[in-house]
Formats: sequence, C-alpha cells, structure tokens
Amino acid sequence: MHKMMSDTLTESKIREIDEKYSSFGDTVHYSKNPKIFYECFGSFMYDREHIPYLDLQMWYASCNLGYKNKRITDAIKDCLDTMPQIASRFLYDYKVLLTEKIAKANIKRFNKKGRVHFNVGGAQATEDAIKLIRNYTHKNSLFAFMGGYHGRTTGASSVTSSFRYRENFGHFSDRAYFVPFPYCYRCHYNKKCDSCDFYCVKMFEKLFDTEYNGVYNPNTKNCEFGAFIMEPILGTGGYVIPPKGYFRELKKVLDKYNILLIVDEIQMGMYRTGKLWSIEHFNVTPDVITFGKSLTNGMNPLSGMWAREELINPDIWPAGRTHSTYSSNPIGTRSGYEVMSIFEDEEEELERSIKQKGEKFLSGLKYLKEEFKTIGNIDGLGLALRIECTEKDGFTPNKKLCDFIIEEGLKGDLVYQGKKCGLVLNNGGYYKNVITLVPPVNISDSEIDMAINLLCMLFRRAGAR
Ligand SMILES: Cc1ncc(COP(=O)(O)O)c(C=O)c1O
Repeated sequence: MHKMMSDTLTESKIREIDEKYSSFGDTVHYSKNPKIFYECFGSFMYDREHIPYLDLQMWYASCNLGYKNKRITDAIKDCLDTMPQIASRFLYDYKVLLTEKIAKANIKRFNKKGRVHFNVGGAQATEDAIKLIRNYTHKNSLFAFMGGYHGRTTGASSVTSSFRYRENFGHFSDRAYFVPFPYCYRCHYNKKCDSCDFYCVKMFEKLFDTEYNGVYNPNTKNCEFGAFIMEPILGTGGYVIPPKGYFRELKKVLDKYNILLIVDEIQMGMYRTGKLWSIEHFNVTPDVITFGKSLTNGMNPLSGMWAREELINPDIWPAGRTHSTYSSNPIGTRSGYEVMSIFEDEEEELERSIKQKGEKFLSGLKYLKEEFKTIGNIDGLGLALRIECTEKDGFTPNKKLCDFIIEEGLKGDLVYQGKKCGLVLNNGGYYKNVITLVPPVNISDSEIDMAINLLCMLFRRAGAR
C-alpha cells in the first residue's frame, strides 16, 4: 500500500472526496459502493487488509500477462531512464520496432503486407478505422453486429449497438446497420444451431436481393456500406462465441459485394483466446484490425490499427490524416514492444497452455452448470469464458443473480484453503446477466481450481441450486 496515503486517508475519506469532486458519468458509480483496492500482483488485487482477490476480469482484458509483469515493468523502467517523453511528430526506435513486429506478425498469419497506425485508446482506434474506410471507399456507413461494442466516443458509439450509449447525445447520422450476431443460445431467429444451416447469413445476404432492401443497388453493383466492423467474439456483449464456419460464410457474402472487414481485437486479441488475434480461429483474413488494451498490459494507453497496404499506403493515407498528441507515446510503445516480444518468444507455449488452461477452466464450469440450475449456458475459447445466469428454467436472464455474485465476490469474506479471499468478476451480455471470465493468460492450474471453488461458493451463497 502507498505508505503516505494509507496513514492519512481512510476509506470513508476517499469516498467523501469522490462524492464531492468526481464526475459520476464514468462507470465507477454503476456500483453504489465502489470497491477500493490498494495493490495488485500476478492474478490478484489486494484490499486494505491485504486480503487477496483472485481477479477474473483483469481490467477488462487489459492485463492479459498478469499484474506487474516483471519483463514489462523492467522495460518501462528502462524507458523512464532514457526517453520517456517525445512529441509524436518525431521518430524513435521502439515505435518503429513495434510497428514492424505487428506488421510482420500479420504477414505470417494472413500473408498480407500492411502498416500500423497508433492512437491512445480503443475508441480512438475505432475512430481511425472508420476514417480509414471512409477515406478509401468514400462511403460513410458501416455494418456492425447487434451486441458489438467498439467504444464510447461519438463515432465509436455510432457503430456500437446499445442504444443506451447514444440515447442522451442527439442525432447520430452515420449509425451502423446492426446485424444479428450468431448468438446461438439466444438465436435472433429462434433457430437451432445444429440445423439452421447459417440461416442468419442467408438473412444478411437477402439484403442484397433488391435495391428496395435498402443497402445495395444490383444494377450498379454498389453497396451503401463500406465495411463491416465486428468483434469475432462479443466482449461486452457477453463473451459469445460464434459457431465454427460462421465467419467463412459471412466473409463470402462480404467479398461478393465488395464490403471490407474491420476486425476489432481490442478485447479478444493479444492471446485472450490462445492466438494473437481471435479471428485466427475462424480462417478469415481482415482488411483492418484494431487493437488496444493488453497491447501494453495495462501499463500506458496505446491502441492502434493495422490495415492492408492497399488501404493505408502513404499515397492514400498521407501525413496528417489523423493525429493525437499522445499517440505512439514512448512508455506505451516500449511496453507494447515488450508485450509483443513476450508473445513472439513464447508463441508455441502460449498457444498450447492457453488451450489447455481454457479446457480445464471450461470443465470446471461444466461441473458448476450441472450443480446449479441457474446457470443456463457456459462456453469458452481459450481463456475467454462465460457463465450465463438464468432463472431455474435455464433460459430466462437473471441479472439479479449475476449482480449478487459479483457484489459478494468483492466482500473478501470467502475462505479458501483456510484463508480469507475474494473474487473480482465482471458482467456483460445483452441482459447484463453474463459473468464474463477474463483471467490472466498465465493463470496457474491451482488458481483455476481456486476460481472454480470460489464461484461454486458464491452460487451456493446465492441459494442458486
Ligand atoms: C471490443 C472493444 N472495442 C473497443 C473498446 C473501446 O476501448 P476503450 O475503452 O479503450 O476506448 C472496447 C472496450 O471495452 C472493446 O471491448
């Protein structure tokens, strides 16, 4: 704990100051009594009494390599001692080396040449991708998924499906056309996954039958929409994993009608699912990839986009197309370089271990689902996992139960192997009834056992049998 603060600042004083001077417009005050933490390390956060809380949300997937990862911390210390500040109009080594790492990673994965453009946060990367598509296609509109989340700036909110994020902010002229995500457990079309034959892709393609369906003119072969922006696995939308083959089918339609593909890897990228990019699981090549969050393992804001050479070469995307003072900041790029180096050095081991740990975690969730009728659905890909809380019918969304479990985990009064501890969870989903499980990708097997045991205790506490 920070010594000076701990001696003088009680928790009630912290809350009193917060009440008086903080805007309540961010997400802290979703909770009536926001938890205060003082330290973090590895897979844990610590409260004032130094009670450990196993963290299964890792700053919304921003710290995939665990808190205070030594290699990254050492890299930042080196950066602090050399050149921690430099205006974004100059070049420096680690910025260039990081672009090279990402561009080469994508040549290896997709056999496509491309370039990288940095910004600060995820929403800004979304903004840049929107600009890039407008610049290249001269079209304003995008397709996006229902349940998709791409950030809260006005541009990013226009392609994020939740109306709540636009509700109080006037007219959004270039609001996306929102297409149902293949959320098979709650199929938009009430189909069954094993027999639907990708009905949702067929419904999407139907839009192109006639000009009167509102998106395409078959005579000029012109679509009003320049690109489809998507998360391969919904993040905020509840860690929904599409069925195998879905994206291959959808991409055929996009290619047929010349619609570009922006893949948002801000939450699911950086080995969350056991691959650098989650889209790699689905055998589809994107035109643009956006990334952020775990690129720096939560150490300094840095986001960016990679795009195919055709879209981003200097003739079409020349100097000054977009800019932010803090884009490609040195502490961010230095940590990003170290994160990408860790991924390169440990690539095979990471792919193997994340798959194995994900399977172990998922089998623990299967056990919980058998034990508790109020768990309607569980799923996972690598270490992106979900528990959908329902009524005892196994389907009706149960947000109350989800909220209860999250709040109880934060009390820090669970007992595991004779010691007090807590559990940090986050929720998501269309009905905010999904516990989205986001452990560090280097979580140990014993921590996975701990996670399943603590979840079991919390569901028991809820009387959720
Ligand atoms: C998939 C996805 N895209 C974009 C964003 C926006 O990123 P940021 O919060 O850094 O603006 C998020 C944030 O949760 C995200 O999950």
